[in-house]
Amino acid sequence: MNAPLSPRALASSALAEPVLAVAGLAKDFPGRKVLGGLDFALAPGQATALIGANGSGKSTLLRCLVRLIEPSAGEIRMLGRDVRALPPRLLRRFRAEVGIVWQRHNLVPRLSALSNVIHGVQARMSGPRVWVQSLAPAAVRDEAMECLVRVGLADRALVRVDSLSGGQQQRVAIARMLMQRPAFILADEPDASLDPQTGEEVMSLLLGLVRQEGLSLLVISHRLEHTLRFSDRILGLADGQIALDLATRDANAASLRQFFDHADAA
Ligand SMILES: Nc1ncnc2c1ncn2[C@@H]1O[C@H](COP(=O)(O)OP(=O)(O)OP(=O)(O)O)[C@@H](O)[C@H]1O
Ligand SMILES: [Mg+2]
Repeated sequence: MNAPLSPRALASSALAEPVLAVAGLAKDFPGRKVLGGLDFALAPGQATALIGANGSGKSTLLRCLVRLIEPSAGEIRMLGRDVRALPPRLLRRFRAEVGIVWQRHNLVPRLSALSNVIHGVQARMSGPRVWVQSLAPAAVRDEAMECLVRVGLADRALVRVDSLSGGQQQRVAIARMLMQRPAFILADEPDASLDPQTGEEVMSLLLGLVRQEGLSLLVISHRLEHTLRFSDRILGLADGQIALDLATRDANAASLRQFFDHADAA
């Protein structure tokens, strides 16, 4: 599944404008400096894994990138936009272009998978109400069905979400996110609270969107084996800094464990 990028894809991603570039990104909470001025850039069409000890600031970084938490300092350029300069209305519109997958997916349990996915269009469209499946324009419904096909759940479209397994629910959440037609996906431990096999399927699905559809992905995972199998590049956060930046093909379980041991000792 994790076929390396072709030389051509590597060359074109090296030339392309980064999908994300941050400079001097800092975040302080009262009495605690979490991000100490980060600099990094991500080439488009790649999967980047973000690792680090508990409390090292991974989720804070992800949230700062789309200003769900306001950074204390620094610049963020994502999808060609100066994110920190966006006024509220444009910020909301910009967020719709970024697909976010959380550990907890917040689906509406009593609605069908299809209805939940249709809700994803709300982030993108204003105007006609699309809450209720029967009111959804046919095109929206077709696109939602197509998103369920992409996550391998076409046959569960009309089933209530609360009767699906945890892994299937996470895939519905990914389908809902795909309704936003995102070019860049941020995922905060999408494989947590799933059994190993199901977590692997979810990670594999996300990497498939990168490989087959050219999306870009920044994913936090606690599982070293997932980090190694489902990414092109690994960034490690420690002491508020990017302390590790490695092509995944040059990484192994031992080098990642060493990073964690070192981060713990610091
Ligand atoms: N809203 C907040 N107010 C104050 N401190 C916060 C807030 N959010 C996070 N923190 C602190 O910032 C630090 C980083 O938290 P963060 O959740 O980003 O870590 P993480 O790397 O995602 O951890 P985990 O692996 O446990 O998910 C922690 O010390 C946390 O307590
Ligand atoms: Mg976290």
